[in-house]
Amino acid sequence: QRDRVGSDFDALLAADQRIEPRDAMPEKYRETLIRQIAQHAHSEIIGMQPEGNWITRAPSLRRKAILIAKVQDEAGHGLYLYSAAETLGIDRQELLERLHDGKQKYSSIFNYPTLTWADCGAIGWLVDGAAIMNQVPLCRCSYGPYARAMIRVCKEESFHQRQGFEILWNLMRGTEAQQAMAQDAADRWWWPALMMFGPPDTGEAAKGGHTEQSMAWGIKRFSNDDLRQKFVDMMVPQAEKLGIVLPDPDLRWNEERGHYDFGPIDWDEFWRVLRGDGACNAERISHRRRAHDEGAWVREAANAYAGKHAARSAE
Ligand code: ACO
Repeated sequence: QRDRVGSDFDALLAADQRIEPRDAMPEKYRETLIRQIAQHAHSEIIGMQPEGNWITRAPSLRRKAILIAKVQDEAGHGLYLYSAAETLGIDRQELLERLHDGKQKYSSIFNYPTLTWADCGAIGWLVDGAAIMNQVPLCRCSYGPYARAMIRVCKEESFHQRQGFEILWNLMRGTEAQQAMAQDAADRWWWPALMMFGPPDTGEAAKGGHTEQSMAWGIKRFSNDDLRQKFVDMMVPQAEKLGIVLPDPDLRWNEERGHYDFGPIDWDEFWRVLRGDGACNAERISHRRRAHDEGAWVREAANAYAGKHAARSAE
């Protein structure tokens, strides 16, 4: 890799080549990637909880099997991403400590509760839909290990989105109560899904943001608002197909812009959730800490096993 265009960071970026772990890179680039990849990994493993909540109550064996596979995929994505972060010279243990101590974030979206079965549909359709919109461009991220991890993750996310759409599709063709349940879930998840893309590109909230620098480094390929707009444009026709009314009276096609206009987002709610005041923040972290502590014996056993193997191959 390095022989192609030399190890100079700027030259690699200018040639749209990938930066690999052993290439020289500015310290801030490394820190930004650790922050983003860790936040992404944390989101995947915390993201197992809202849907994990429904595994024992999935309405059929088929739904249960799909849900278990999906939650397991999320665990896999988390591990993949922790490995990508480790190529930047940080230890997974340390990243988990930062998550448990509240020093690193995970996505705002996972602090909302899953009240009914339809929430599993809304998460698949809206949350995973937003995740794909954000992650497909990350397949072209300048950092090689992150970009490559994203390719597989996006394939699995597409399946997740389709299964969410299918849950809602079936509910919308069910009884009136089922339709109401699907509509209620979409009402509750729509705005938080729009917030997933992060604060707006302009105004007070944009100050201190990372977008400009991350785009210059080829980490982000689109701004938060651009991805949010693409997401709205993709979802409106899907909502129409489902027969779901998106909870925004300002949502309408703008012929001039060639995009859907949409209403204002409650950024106070977003920052509140980030500060820890969302409906489920405390529950998510305490559950995560408990799972980590209760899993200590698995890590010890795996380390003992690896040690035994290493000793044997050294003989
Ligand atoms: N939830 C929590 N924090 C957020 C969110 C969000 N949805 N969006 C932005 N933030 C935080 C940023 O981490 C940053 O905080 P920090 O400076 O303390 O680290 C601050 O808000 C300002 O935001 P930006 O300047 O826009 O930050 P950034 O350039 O990192 O962009 C984004 C945010 C778009 C989420 C980016 O980090 C990204 O693409 N991450 C990878 C995708 C990801 O993490 N997905 C997780 C959810 S999807 C899933 O797990 C199914």
